[in-house]
Amino acid sequence: MKNTVLVSGGAGFIGSHVSVELIEAGFDIVVADNFSNCDLTCFKGVKKITGRDDIPLEVMDFCDASATKALFAKYPIDAVIHFAAFKAVGESVQEPVMYYKNNLLSFLNVLEAAQDKGGCNVLFSSSATVYGEPDKVPVTEETPRKPAASPYGNTKKMCEDILQDCVKASNGAIKGILLRYFNPIGAHPSALIGELPRGVPNNLVPFITQTAVGKRECLNIFGNDYPTPDGTCLRDYIDIVDLAKAHVCAVKRMLDGKMAQPCEVFNIGTGRPLSVLELVNAFEKVNGVKLNYRFAPRREGDVTAIWADPAKANEQMGWKATRSIEETLKAAWAWECHLKTTYGNE
Ligand code: WQD
Repeated sequence: MKNTVLVSGGAGFIGSHVSVELIEAGFDIVVADNFSNCDLTCFKGVKKITGRDDIPLEVMDFCDASATKALFAKYPIDAVIHFAAFKAVGESVQEPVMYYKNNLLSFLNVLEAAQDKGGCNVLFSSSATVYGEPDKVPVTEETPRKPAASPYGNTKKMCEDILQDCVKASNGAIKGILLRYFNPIGAHPSALIGELPRGVPNNLVPFITQTAVGKRECLNIFGNDYPTPDGTCLRDYIDIVDLAKAHVCAVKRMLDGKMAQPCEVFNIGTGRPLSVLELVNAFEKVNGVKLNYRFAPRREGDVTAIWADPAKANEQMGWKATRSIEETLKAAWAWECHLKTTYGNE
């Protein structure tokens, strides 16, 4: 019998790519989303890519405890991957109550529903943001977490701790995996799903593609006076399809009873640092487009350099990032061009 995976926030950027990989790996999935930060574009894309018109979609808010319980009662959920959360760092500084309420309550409701059902395998979508400005790079899973620089980052840390505590208290009924993502970028090679930021993008790659397509005038590179080889920040950009495949490995590991501990942590990155300038140059070269950019002051809250040591995920989960930065940036550009063809330059 097929196992069923609930994908909370499954209509968003990461959730839609994970949905594709789960279906292609033979899982049944249930997508649940309140569409607070996305529309139906990616969910439709998932159906098209997989050729599956029957994927259950539940339009619901995980902050609603009874709706969450009803969802767990309706489907035979073997594992849940929890993406449903707000994710804009700057907005979280302006609206901390909204962020803590949404991100914590939705996860608590998922855990309560899982407990009430007698247990579940829970995969939480965490972030390298929990490492703050690390004292040493690359970071391993043992690298100490630092105080969060934003309420958004703090919700990731708090949800990590909540899951650890629930697993500990559950006597084996709840198992957990925390995946700490570095910088997910790119799009599915079909160009049918990708990132759909609302308004002005906060993240680098959507800003680059929107500038290249003419939606934005100029990319600001935040800071060229960092203590790095070219003065711009270093990050670990991970292809979204590679990242999605890590979730399939993690879910299989939980369901196949392969976990070494009841709650495990994995870094999901490439181990390859790239500077902002290197990324911009690679984008221009691989796509044959010229990007209008200028150097601007540093952005508050940015760390100088962070990249993953992905050895634990490579060795213990059998997962490895495989896509080159060129492939990834080609896919990001193809997605932006697809959006332009479909919707024009709105
Ligand atoms: C990358 C680099 C910027 C935009 C954040 C979150 C993290 C995760 C991913 C969120 C930095 C520079 C950016 C621009 C620029 N989760 N930059 N001009 O800040 O590493 O990580 O997003 O959903 O938790 O903290 O990613 O893409 O914003 O920035 O120069 O217009 O690009 O300064 O060095 P970041 P990013």
